[in-house]
Amino acid sequence: MENQISDIRREYRKHKLTPDTLSNNPFEQFQHWLDDALNSSEEEPTAMIVATVSADGHPSTRTVLLKGVENGKIIFFTNYESRKGQQLTANPYLSLSFVWHKLERQIHIEGKAEKCLPEYSDAYFASRPYKSKIGARISPQSRTISSRMEIMRAFIYEAAKLTGQTIRRPDNWGGFAVTPTRFEFWQGRENRLHDRFEYTLQSDKSWQRVRLAP
Ligand SMILES: Cc1cc2nc3c(=O)[nH]c(=O)nc-3n(C[C@H](O)[C@H](O)[C@H](O)COP(=O)(O)O)c2cc1C
Repeated sequence: MENQISDIRREYRKHKLTPDTLSNNPFEQFQHWLDDALNSSEEEPTAMIVATVSADGHPSTRTVLLKGVENGKIIFFTNYESRKGQQLTANPYLSLSFVWHKLERQIHIEGKAEKCLPEYSDAYFASRPYKSKIGARISPQSRTISSRMEIMRAFIYEAAKLTGQTIRRPDNWGGFAVTPTRFEFWQGRENRLHDRFEYTLQSDKSWQRVRLAP
């Protein structure tokens, strides 16, 4: 079995990344690749891995959905009391990774997260489907629960309690806005000689771009 796994490999040869086709602005490049992913057959083109670090220096990761790129910030929504929420409150530095296998591409972003303004989170919450709103209100995300029944009961009880009412965003749920300081664009190439370009934010707010070894 081990041998079979170690034999899995394929060549990446669909696209290339060159300095003359890359945008000077990493947000433009990000939008360009995101559009490609949205127009591809990727199952979850907006899914990204969020890496956080606990107060005592231990990293952890999980997937969330990108919900916007606005005014130089990258937005996702979650429970502020979840494991990630607590870690970001203690240490706001994080890393985001998009992997688009169909395009043989990945993007890594590093930066600092802050909670979105309550009105911003309210507006997004209001756009969510009714049952997702109820779910966000009743799920103590990342805490231990006794059974699935426990959460189903809470869901049904909350839905019945709020019948006919506007479902309001709970205070412990909302957006994080990430201000990036580093972007890396990775394009798989043949013979594992991939193209990698790194953008780092300079003190004068410009972006410096360099090519990295694969
Ligand atoms: C495709 C996908 C999308 C997800 N989107 C979100 C999301 O937008 N927000 C969220 O809180 N959790 C999302 N999750 C669940 C998280 O990966 C994770 O299980 C949850 O947020 C709890 O993480 P934590 O205990 O590390 O805080 C998603 C999972 C998958 C697989």
